[in-house]
Amino acid sequence: MRTDTGQVIHLADYRPTDFVLERVDLTFELDPTETKVEARLIFHRRPGADPAAPIVLDGDELTLSGLLLDQVELDPSRYDATPESLTVRDLPESAPFELTITTVINPEANTKLMGLYRTGGIYCTQCEAEGFRRITYFPDRPDVLAAFTVNIIADKDANPLLLSNGNFLGGAGYGPGKHFAAWFDPHPKPSYLFALVAGDLGVIEDTFTTMSGREVVLKIYVEHGKEPRAAYAMDALKRSMKWDEVRFGREYDLDIFMIVAVSDFNMGAMENKGLNVFNDKYVLADPEIATDADYANIEAIIAHEYFHNWTGNRITCRDWFQLCLKEGLTVYRDHEFSSDQRSRAVKRIAEVRHLKSEQFPEDGGPLAHPVRPTKYREINNFYTTTVYEKGSEVTRMIATLLGKDGFKKGMDLYFDRHDGQAVTIEDFVKCFEDASGRDLTQFSLWYHQAGTPLVTASGSYDAAAASFTLSLEQMIPATPGQPSKEPMHIPLSLALFGENGGKIEPTSVDGAEYIGEVLHLTGRTQTATFHGIASRPVVSINRGFSAPINLHFDQSPADLALLARHETNHFARWQALTDLALPNLLKAARDAREGKPVVCEATFIETLIAAAADDALEPAFRAQALALPSESDIARELGGNNDPDAIHAGRQAILKQIADAGKDVFAGLYAAMTTSGDFSPDAKSAGLRALRNTALTYLSHAEQTPARAKAAFDAANNMTDLSHALTILAHRFPDSAETSEALASFRDRFAENALVIDKWFAIQAGIPGAKTLERIRALMDNPLFKRSNPNRMRALVGTFAFANPTGFGRADGDGYRFLAGQILDIDERNPQLAARILTSMRSWRSLEPARAEHARLALIEIERAADLSTDVRDIVERTLK
Ligand code: PHE
Ligand code: ZN
Repeated sequence: MRTDTGQVIHLADYRPTDFVLERVDLTFELDPTETKVEARLIFHRRPGADPAAPIVLDGDELTLSGLLLDQVELDPSRYDATPESLTVRDLPESAPFELTITTVINPEANTKLMGLYRTGGIYCTQCEAEGFRRITYFPDRPDVLAAFTVNIIADKDANPLLLSNGNFLGGAGYGPGKHFAAWFDPHPKPSYLFALVAGDLGVIEDTFTTMSGREVVLKIYVEHGKEPRAAYAMDALKRSMKWDEVRFGREYDLDIFMIVAVSDFNMGAMENKGLNVFNDKYVLADPEIATDADYANIEAIIAHEYFHNWTGNRITCRDWFQLCLKEGLTVYRDHEFSSDQRSRAVKRIAEVRHLKSEQFPEDGGPLAHPVRPTKYREINNFYTTTVYEKGSEVTRMIATLLGKDGFKKGMDLYFDRHDGQAVTIEDFVKCFEDASGRDLTQFSLWYHQAGTPLVTASGSYDAAAASFTLSLEQMIPATPGQPSKEPMHIPLSLALFGENGGKIEPTSVDGAEYIGEVLHLTGRTQTATFHGIASRPVVSINRGFSAPINLHFDQSPADLALLARHETNHFARWQALTDLALPNLLKAARDAREGKPVVCEATFIETLIAAAADDALEPAFRAQALALPSESDIARELGGNNDPDAIHAGRQAILKQIADAGKDVFAGLYAAMTTSGDFSPDAKSAGLRALRNTALTYLSHAEQTPARAKAAFDAANNMTDLSHALTILAHRFPDSAETSEALASFRDRFAENALVIDKWFAIQAGIPGAKTLERIRALMDNPLFKRSNPNRMRALVGTFAFANPTGFGRADGDGYRFLAGQILDIDERNPQLAARILTSMRSWRSLEPARAEHARLALIEIERAADLSTDVRDIVERTLK
């Protein structure tokens, strides 16, 4: 049953519960279609609360099958039970009381994958954000914390494993063919961190000795036969545990830490206390099935979920408006971890690419919202790149403002002051103010004002005065519900370089605070003067992307080329190359649209090829430099009236010119960038593969035949090389015999491996051009296609809608209509998945008028459908507004 019960929830309406939950005792009698859940909850009325107030517990699609108060059956006149709530009246004024609630639920029928569900023959739960209320009636909100005891009873043969949070208490037989296990989690937690897993799985085991010398058992559960593929995840877990001790002083706090990999999961992974549940995509890897990007994702997500044990679990959110309290901070922590494990500059480039391609369009479109929102209709729709990635950037700016030591003091204070509590962003920021003595009032606007700030800069050099003046202006665009904004505190990492490429240190700066190479922009406009500048400087602004802004700064190609060669900060070199590339790509799109020839400026091509050939630069960096801004990056920079076909054609023409000019360099790199010995997923080897594969892409542009890519496909001995070659074949030469042969051989070789078959679907979904839609329709009839599996849907429909602007955006609008049909179909089973894929329409207003009208009508078709879920209704209405 689908009902839109979504009224708007406001932050301003927050108030604590009337009742305090003391203890939770759960008993599950597992059955695929009729699981009995008995919840014993001990409450007392909060001192000062209304002595007559009833208790109101949350439910979602529940039916009550028993209710006791202090072990005595309750008269129906004392309570009301609906699928959405249980209200009990006439409760003791101050004495503790116990409610025993029995519900019967159907895990097999749970296609929303929220609450208790079945996947691959096992039982598993997902409770964040509001899934626990699909298991039993409960005060299902993050500020209600309690210790949980969990008893699990199930068929022994089908479910040798019975797992929950915390430490194992004991287990035994339980009648004919059954057994039970009991778990106790001593750390008070909110219900969203509850987890239960039961079934038959394989396991790999290890141990970790913590900084105080305690031994922790580590277990990763996967499908039988896949145990060796969990080895890398285990390695990443141990490195994460160590890193959190060294860098943040955080020690693990239970005797055991478990990870379970499942194949049907709405998100990446979930940080349930002591029992993380993962999308198996982020656990399973070996060279034959996983790309270097997969390895990097596994490392990052294992770390992310582990880090939540302190930032999220020990200290949690007071309410869901505070989601960035745990997510932004934990993303910042996993970014720092990956930077320490790999190359910091390359990692930063990847982060910023991701931020710009995912978060900037969100912040600039109809779904824009503050990092800390003040209202929502469906909380599931707020697990966004704004909360996660922009939230991380805000944390990163605090570290920039306070410096390494100041930030550490603030974090230590946060852990000390708030351990065991459910807190707010204000509490978090206060710790940094108290630890540093700095006023962060203006800075906090980053949490409250949506929209990507635009900073416009212009400089002028005064030779006589030996001074350089930089004028800065900030503008924060209007976003839904926020028509006008206050100026923000924008920390701009900034350095000056001389004509010879050496850094120039000013003797003094006035007009703006400039400390540790960071210029603090706080006014709407501001003029900073740098003294002691003996010759005209080349300025590098927002080095390392110190603030998540758009920067307009007119720099000549010669100045950018100088920065691309001499900046000491490698992120800034990449930025300079990107700034050189962009005007060429924008002009190419305009020229292609008008049928004019596309010509690329020589300085850009020369500088790019020089960087590619520069052996002093690490290969991974060079690969990033050569990967030009994407078609959607170009669309975003163009800003409106966009024609995806012209953007594609213009970009292809530029790629061809670079490829022709750099043919020898690329052939040299393709021959030289080889790894020796056994496959290793380490960052350095991955960098060699990335540069070699990038060279292969350019060679395929220069040569215009599939031969070399087909040879690479046939010779590949790891998934990185294999899938890259297949992508070139499919995307560049879709109708060639080589491509058909490669696609068929890939499918036959990996038909049994769901994660690899996802790649096969995704690569085809990304083939540019109007014809791809027919291919997608045909692929949906392929026996390997599985509608109920979120990874498979994201691979085919998600890739098409998010990452194929010419296919999805074909001129007749069929792509948008196709998506509308898919969304309505997915919504019947899995609203969260449907809503997420629908966000691919967020930039529809920046299309040229004919396509925009097709997109609008497709959205209206969704909006008018009967029985929409709250999730999809919320997204479609905001997208159309
Ligand atoms: N809290 C999870 C994470 O970031 C994400 C998640 C949200 C998973 C909601 C499932 C459901 O790490
Ligand atoms: Zn998280």
